[in-house]
Amino acid sequence: MESTRKNRPELPEPAERVLSRIERANVPRHVALIMDGNGRWARKRWLPRSAGHRAGVEVLTPVLEAAGRAGVRSLTLYAFSTENWTRPEDEVSGLMSLFIEKAKTKVPELHERGARLRFVGRTDRLPERIRTSAREAEEMTAANQDLDVYIALNYGGRSELVDATRRMMSAGIDPSEVDEETFASYLYAPEASEMDLVIRTSGELRVSNFLLWQIAYAEFYITETLWPDFSAEEFLTAIESYASRSRRRGGV
Ligand code: FPP
Repeated sequence: MESTRKNRPELPEPAERVLSRIERANVPRHVALIMDGNGRWARKRWLPRSAGHRAGVEVLTPVLEAAGRAGVRSLTLYAFSTENWTRPEDEVSGLMSLFIEKAKTKVPELHERGARLRFVGRTDRLPERIRTSAREAEEMTAANQDLDVYIALNYGGRSELVDATRRMMSAGIDPSEVDEETFASYLYAPEASEMDLVIRTSGELRVSNFLLWQIAYAEFYITETLWPDFSAEEFLTAIESYASRSRRRGGV
């Protein structure tokens, strides 16, 4: 089918240089992003945490552009975890308002770039205005084929496994029929391929309840860079690092 991709802007020169070095055959299919360090970025500038989240959203455009150019097929972004509700109320409501505000401009932009958006997590427990915005984004972009972008909202890895188990039991699946393939088909996005690469910013060496099933064989790229300072160049550096590794998946 014809690509929906429109005229793509050039990446900044340093990013183009990294891109030109990447061995295309070894590019990860699915990359997960833990976008950490927004609060610290803001604190370093004497700004409110909300300014860090706001700056963080802006990084998505060049990163998604770089992903598309490198040939990454899918991205999963950790936007809001089931644990994030414990943050101060004004930060949580600020993040929700930011999602709504930015969806208005970013979703049409992503649509223009041929990205298909999907939301994963306990989305049924999100405020109505977020659910509506998410549904509209999914509908608008449903037919796009260049890049799948999964946005994890009210997402928890353990909740996903619990929800999958509940759905499987509700469907009356016999225990003897449950194997890994069956189980995976009850996850939030069963059509998604598993993670090849997880990128975490701000130097934390944790998984933080993200994609516990899907990261079984993932490679990790951890950088000290705070998420609002992350760039297309560093994303591509992570892809280059992945492309140069040999993945044994338990073999020799
Ligand atoms: C972690 O930084 C970041 C978040 C909890 C929010 C991430 C969300 C965005 C970057 C916006 C993305 C938006 C969409 C629509 C996908 P932190 O606050 O934990 O930083 P800290 O560890 O320095 O305090």
